[in-house]
Amino acid sequence: CKKASDIICSVVRDNKNALLGLATGGTAEGVYKYIVEEFKNGKIDLSNVKTINLDEYVGIGGDHPQSYRRYMDDHFFNHVNINKENTYVPITTGDIDRELLNIKEIIDGNGGTDIQLLGVGRNGHIAFNEPGERLNASASIVDLNEDTIRANSRYFSNIDEVPKKALSLGIGDILKSKKIILLAFGSEKANAIRELLSNDFITTKVPCTLLKAHNDVTIIIDEALSEKL
Ligand code: GLP
Repeated sequence: CKKASDIICSVVRDNKNALLGLATGGTAEGVYKYIVEEFKNGKIDLSNVKTINLDEYVGIGGDHPQSYRRYMDDHFFNHVNINKENTYVPITTGDIDRELLNIKEIIDGNGGTDIQLLGVGRNGHIAFNEPGERLNASASIVDLNEDTIRANSRYFSNIDEVPKKALSLGIGDILKSKKIILLAFGSEKANAIRELLSNDFITTKVPCTLLKAHNDVTIIIDEALSEKL
């Protein structure tokens, strides 16, 4: 997480107007903790930075405790000097077509994000692009699969409360980023990371393998995962 924070901070130091592509999930929490620490130590200025998040559940508003807007405010935005008006987390309670256009404008207006932070699902999903015959190139409404609903139910009081759909950036949106960092911790991510690192195939059945088509990806794993590889 410290390493990922260092990379993100160096992108911001090089370009104070950078557009950061951000992720949620348990893995990313540590990254934000270290960026906040840099800010508190006076080593980073985020006042001109813009951000866009990968995804949001459909049907829950930004004030819902498990919304990704709330996650971002709680773990990151409320603790730094970022201008909240420059932070975009998809809004899924209103006009979805308008939101999809907003996303396109933000990403294409900057020629892709300057850096994209990614976690990965146990099934290899990135953002909420679930394994399947086809993957979306651009942002769309997607169905969450059983495994993802089960994994994310730990944040809800019971599994029935987990939304079944999400708005997610597409694989093309992610690949437009100038630089990508993917973090994967824990042995349960081993299958996904093995498919990414130990062969030369790309398959929509393991969406993170699409990252092989990008030429600036940093993959950071922990010991528990590396022991499984
Ligand atoms: C979630 C998010 C992904 C995240 C992944 C891993 O469902 N949509 O963006 O990377 O699952 O989450 P975690 O870091 O909690 O394992």
